[in-house]
Amino acid sequence: MTEHSEARVVAAIPDAIAAAGGLIAGGRLVAFPTETVYGLGADATNDEAVAAVFAAKNRPTFNPLIVHFADAEAAFRTVAADGRAERLAEAFWPGALTLVLPRQAKSTLSLLVSAGLDTVAVRVPSHPVAHALLEASGCPIAAPSANPSGRVSPTTAAHVAESLGGAVAMILDGGACPVGIESTVVDLSGDQPTLLRPGGVTAEDIEKVIGNLETAGSDGEAPKSPGMLERHYAPGLPLRLDATEAGPGEALLGLGPGAAGATLNLSPGGDLKEAAANLFAMMRRLDTPEHEAIAVMPVPERGLGRAINDRLRRAAATR
Ligand code: TXA
Ligand code: MG
Repeated sequence: MTEHSEARVVAAIPDAIAAAGGLIAGGRLVAFPTETVYGLGADATNDEAVAAVFAAKNRPTFNPLIVHFADAEAAFRTVAADGRAERLAEAFWPGALTLVLPRQAKSTLSLLVSAGLDTVAVRVPSHPVAHALLEASGCPIAAPSANPSGRVSPTTAAHVAESLGGAVAMILDGGACPVGIESTVVDLSGDQPTLLRPGGVTAEDIEKVIGNLETAGSDGEAPKSPGMLERHYAPGLPLRLDATEAGPGEALLGLGPGAAGATLNLSPGGDLKEAAANLFAMMRRLDTPEHEAIAVMPVPERGLGRAINDRLRRAAATR
């Protein structure tokens, strides 16, 4: 880490959050913790600020951003919520669920957040620092994960400083993100609720509230979520999935009590919640010149394991 980027990291005490809120309201970019991953935040009503987010991440402009609100009432003033949205908000907000809903005509959000679509992805985060920042800025905050496009999402302030430090006015340090994997994205803009991205709230739990969730792209159609590019969440080293042991030069990322020989273990007890929280930080720790590749042991395809496997498959997709 350079001295320059270190100077931008500030402990998320009330004075710093107030200052960060002022920076956002003034059109600047601030990185901040959410319960899922760190976000790169900008005033979602300010075209120039939103454009600066795309530039800082080198993000393709066809890939829309999630807009964060302090509460569901504020979110549903800008998108059209139906009964399904109300029930999901009641069950999972604040928390790691993002809803894609039709934009209301009166919405003051920058059109850039939607990247040309007639919908907006909205979320109410539960992290106290994120909530306090939303209150302090007085505006909805557009925030993608605070990493260069295509790379591993940050779960600590230091991760942000390493890759995006130069692009932001301030990095609020709120410690490690407790969920550790991005929010679940559900598209409610059509009749059939669709899972666009598995994430911190499991599909099983969502189905208990609104019934059957279709999985986007499962029938071979074009992905509805433009951000779900095949290769994503990628470390610098190649990744090999479903490994049983490390090959020559490989680091081994394991899961559960059977992975005693692993270089790092996502959760020695086999707890998927702990594994999700550790996933990105451990991928970064193994992504060093000391190794030639990272071999990953199997993760069960249920609950949070679906989101973990989704990120692993994208990280492993051929360059
Ligand atoms: O946990 C999270 O969701 C984090 C924290 C910071 O909130 N944010 C995050 O943002 O992961 P990002 O930009 O890295 O991922 C947003 C995803 C992308 O796959 C994007 O394509 C999709 O949401 N998305 C955003 N708006 C959409 C829309 N209107 N329709 C369909 N997909 C949308
Ligand atoms: Mg991202």
